[in-house]
Amino acid sequence: MFYEIKKGHGLPHNPFQSYIVPRPIGWISTLSADGVPNLAPFSFFNGALSHPPMVVFTSSAPAEGGRKTKDTLVNIEETGEFVTNMATEALAEEMNLTSAYVGPEVDEFDLANLDTLPSILVKPPRVAASPIHMECEYFKTVELPGSPDGGRAALVVGTVLGIHIADEVLTDGRIDLGKVRPIGRLGYMDYTVVDTIFPMPRPKPVGGD
Ligand SMILES: Cc1cc2nc3c(=O)[nH]c(=O)nc-3n(C[C@H](O)[C@H](O)[C@H](O)COP(=O)(O)O)c2cc1C
Repeated sequence: MFYEIKKGHGLPHNPFQSYIVPRPIGWISTLSADGVPNLAPFSFFNGALSHPPMVVFTSSAPAEGGRKTKDTLVNIEETGEFVTNMATEALAEEMNLTSAYVGPEVDEFDLANLDTLPSILVKPPRVAASPIHMECEYFKTVELPGSPDGGRAALVVGTVLGIHIADEVLTDGRIDLGKVRPIGRLGYMDYTVVDTIFPMPRPKPVGGD
């Protein structure tokens, strides 16, 4: 089949998110300007640059309840800081709980019964049970086309200032993803787990002097 986006796919569910898979989950913790902790998953999330390390994610509204923007976006723009917490198979249920539509006064760490750890370079707390965290500084927002009712969609770019890696997931100086077991987002309501890992060296350069 082929479908033109503006004419629609005619399928029971939108297939778009089954094509860009698996998507890493940026499980993002922030603080509101008033100091209320916030935690939410974002799967339009990725690394954007290695040197310096930078990350991107997209926040899009309308969210549930007719909100025009999301707390994570508001908090990052107001405070300039966020933390990404690795979402793992062991934390899948908790991650999902933190996606609940709740007001900015609700602390999703409490909602999902998650302990926190302080960060070192930024103020938002970390998910204690998560084995890898990145402390980030807000870089900029790129506005994207929002929804017809005025909901805001925006790509947030952040610079990674520091990375925590739990000693128990390091094997011979490498992050052992077989131990971490990150989860990735697929289409529909589906997820996957990183549990098959194979190496493949890059091709050697050919030609030239
Ligand atoms: C696995 C998963 C991935 C999600 N990815 C996104 C995303 O990329 N962008 C987005 O706007 N919402 C995404 N959501 C929904 C948000 O997590 C949800 O709207 C949440 O309530 C936002 O919280 P906040 O208002 O505290 O920022 C995702 C939800 C789940 C469960």
